[in-house]
Amino acid sequence: MAATETAAMGSATAQPGWSSRTAFVLAAIGAAVGLGNVWRFPTLAGESGGGAFVIFYVACVVLIGLPLILSEVMIGRAGNTDAVGSIRKISELSGSNPRWKYFGVIGVVAAFLILSFYSVVAGWVVYYIGVMGADLVANLGNGDLFGGALQAETTAQVQGRMGALFENVELLITMHLIFMGITLWVVSRGVTEGIEKAATYLMPTFFVLLIGITIYGGIVGDMGEALRFMFSPDFSKLTPQVMNTALGQAFFSLSLGVAGLITYGSYVSRDTPLGTTSGMIAFADTAVALIAGLMIFPIVFAVGLDPAAGPTLVFQSLPIAFQQMPAGSVVGFLFFVLIFFAALTSSISLLEVPTAWGIGEMGWSRRTSSLVFGGGAFVVGIACLLSLNVWSDFKPLAFWPIFEDLAIMDALDGFTGKVMLPLGALLTSIFVGWIADRKLVRAESGLGSSMFGVWRFLIAWLCPIAVTLILVFGLFPGLIG
Ligand code: TRP
Repeated sequence: MAATETAAMGSATAQPGWSSRTAFVLAAIGAAVGLGNVWRFPTLAGESGGGAFVIFYVACVVLIGLPLILSEVMIGRAGNTDAVGSIRKISELSGSNPRWKYFGVIGVVAAFLILSFYSVVAGWVVYYIGVMGADLVANLGNGDLFGGALQAETTAQVQGRMGALFENVELLITMHLIFMGITLWVVSRGVTEGIEKAATYLMPTFFVLLIGITIYGGIVGDMGEALRFMFSPDFSKLTPQVMNTALGQAFFSLSLGVAGLITYGSYVSRDTPLGTTSGMIAFADTAVALIAGLMIFPIVFAVGLDPAAGPTLVFQSLPIAFQQMPAGSVVGFLFFVLIFFAALTSSISLLEVPTAWGIGEMGWSRRTSSLVFGGGAFVVGIACLLSLNVWSDFKPLAFWPIFEDLAIMDALDGFTGKVMLPLGALLTSIFVGWIADRKLVRAESGLGSSMFGVWRFLIAWLCPIAVTLILVFGLFPGLIG
């Protein structure tokens, strides 16, 4: 792109930046690949009956997610500052209402809320790393490398561990604190020294573990059953509720709708081709979700467990499986390390959104800003983890039928995933498709004319219509009887 255009968009300000294109791609894939892929996706696919959900999910990623990734990264790069400031800047350049910046604010709030419960769940992962790690060390001491995990316990004891953890408030808080502490430490070190370094070490290791454990599952587990479960569709299961869940999951997994990629996009250099890069992010994230399913379900089916176990699938069912499987001790430990790496690179991106906002809009230092929001999310997270036990009867959204049975943690998950992310995504598509100056959008996208036409159709027409429909029917299932 010509230097004059760069200057016109005000990119000359001193904003930190990724040190290379690879660094950005890894950080963005790290943000996308997380608990959403290895925990939420298999859980939802299992609960929603497999095949039809998976196919609809992939369609959402390609037709709605991918155009939105490009849109968010573009807003960030053109604005070259935090999400709210970037949207404001583009509104100004486009001569439109500066109040559009408030959709950035929704995003900042959503990222903060997601971080709070995300860290609690990641805390469970830390706990299981401890449990499986101690078991592994003991087995290594015995020279028993190929044995199952947790041999000293009965199946009922292994299964009971999760319930026991949920009862133990101090332990939950400690694990949540450890995870949030590490996230905070990385983010406070900055874009190149913290975020980028974490991604460049953790993501390649993650991929090696993912492939390794999937191959293991294929050898000792029931891959045929897993493939059937994930890919043979029963479209009668595709209710509006399931579609809403799938679309929400696509947003969550791709880190869309809460300004995450606007924030990361603001650190992207002008010579990065955004179209290809967005495609790589969408592809990698979806591949990891599908592979994670093919890593988990063969193991689940091999020992006859229920694929629709829900959120406990990974934490309760899999340890039972690892107890019974060869080398379960080693693989079980590595499995939780894998989830931990995925979760960490994502929580980093979640904390970076409000942190960048504090730096850009409040003029705080990175240290102060990350501490304020990391500390705040830690506190909100405590309310979430209390809802697993002492506050389990408190249903904050009881007035809203689809959320009425949910305690704080599930209510936050449901509300951010089903309301805030789709709303953020809807506003992003309207903003990029209709509000922002067409020439600016076109130049910033870097797309050739036919690709631009396709993309513009998807972002200006398909995204807003599909997201609105799914939002309305998903949130008010009564409308279609
Ligand atoms: N995408 C991550 C996952 O799949 C979670 C996440 C990270 C996220 N950053 C986000 C979700 C921003 C929404 C918005 O686990």
